[in-house]
Amino acid sequence: MRIFLIGFMGSGKTTLGKEISKDLDLKFIDLDAYIENKIGMTIIDIFNNKGEEKFRIIEKECLIELSTEENIVIATGGGTPCFYNNMQKILDCGISIYLKTEIEDLLKRLEKDRKVRPLIQNKSINEIKTYIKNQLPKRDNFYKQSDYTIDAKDISVEIIKEKIF
Ligand code: S3P
Repeated sequence: MRIFLIGFMGSGKTTLGKEISKDLDLKFIDLDAYIENKIGMTIIDIFNNKGEEKFRIIEKECLIELSTEENIVIATGGGTPCFYNNMQKILDCGISIYLKTEIEDLLKRLEKDRKVRPLIQNKSINEIKTYIKNQLPKRDNFYKQSDYTIDAKDISVEIIKEKIF
């Protein structure tokens, strides 16, 4: 079994991923953490030193690597499904679950930990709001191709299990 969690930054993919993997006795990998380990740099440093284009190439390669792992829950990055043919790869290789979130909820979560997120690290609250408003509809076009869409507000391991089993 291979489960991909999909959604915008701050939608709770990592937290939920840890819970599901524990419950189902699967391995858990956060794609950003996998990239950081592999390259030996933080996501912020990769963006700042190598640029976003290079990050997206590394991200695609790491996704391909993880797509052959068995019995795993993978929390993807917020941009992962939206570059190259990554969404198709995800659809071909496992079960995908989109954690759908409202702008206001994302904003609350992102204002707290924007420091580790290169795309919003230097933005004010208002600028983050504008960024989410612009990006979410575009990204939703990719996210909504997922096998299952669940409102992040209602999310629980039980609901996920009901959907996929
Ligand atoms: C990104 C989301 C981040 C990380 C990088 C780019 C994006 O992952 O991959 O900062 O493009 O939305 P999280 O969704 O885990 O924060």
